[in-house]
Amino acid sequence: MTDPHARALSLAEQGYAAGDQTGWLDRFYAEAGDDPARIPWARDEPNENLVPWLDARAAHSGRALVVGCGLGVDAEELARRGWDVTAFDVAPSAVAWARRRHPDSAVTYVAANLLDPPAEWLGAWDLVVDIYTVQVLRDTPRATALATLPALVAPGGTLLVIARGRDADEDEGDLPWPLTKAELDAVALPQERFEDYVDGEGRRRFRVEWRRP
Ligand SMILES: C[S@@+](CC[C@H](N)C(=O)[O-])C[C@H]1O[C@@H](n2cnc3c(N)ncnc32)[C@H](O)[C@@H]1O
Repeated sequence: MTDPHARALSLAEQGYAAGDQTGWLDRFYAEAGDDPARIPWARDEPNENLVPWLDARAAHSGRALVVGCGLGVDAEELARRGWDVTAFDVAPSAVAWARRRHPDSAVTYVAANLLDPPAEWLGAWDLVVDIYTVQVLRDTPRATALATLPALVAPGGTLLVIARGRDADEDEGDLPWPLTKAELDAVALPQERFEDYVDGEGRRRFRVEWRRP
């Protein structure tokens, strides 16, 4: 088997060179043929950076939107805790796989693009969760994603972004391309909390929470 990270990087670089940063993802999931070992970010358990954040939260009700949901494990966790969850991914093959993986799911899985979301999603969600999606985008698509995320949040709602972090003068590396604090500080909502830490995988993470008044 080709190294999954090397394959993802190769497709991402081809897409970037062709001016399409998202099209490669559908091909990547489809090529995996339902084998999660071929998806570097696939997990059986909910994200270790999400679970403590959810544990610390008193209320779990309302409409939640999971951005770039991949195979759906975090969306399922939110639904299990009581949220009414819609989860979307730009890759239709990921969405179909998530549905197959969770046949009795209460989650509504949808193929959609964060860069051009359905109009009715704007201002509609009590909780918007993005785990590791913005970090696969660069340049203008990244800026568009960071402008769109706050626009999805309803009055009184929360936006949570969990991402790889780096200092501004640090090398970007390759896929995923970590975010800087400045990029996240520019998100157009009042920021409630910015956490910068090394997680159990030994990776520097930013976990950032905003709330729309
Ligand atoms: C690194 S994966 C993380 C997947 C999942 N959040 C997780 O933690 O397992 C990034 C995901 O974002 C999706 N994605 C990338 N750009 C997107 C966009 N513009 N709109 C929606 N999903 C996108 C990809 O298809 C992929 O499933």
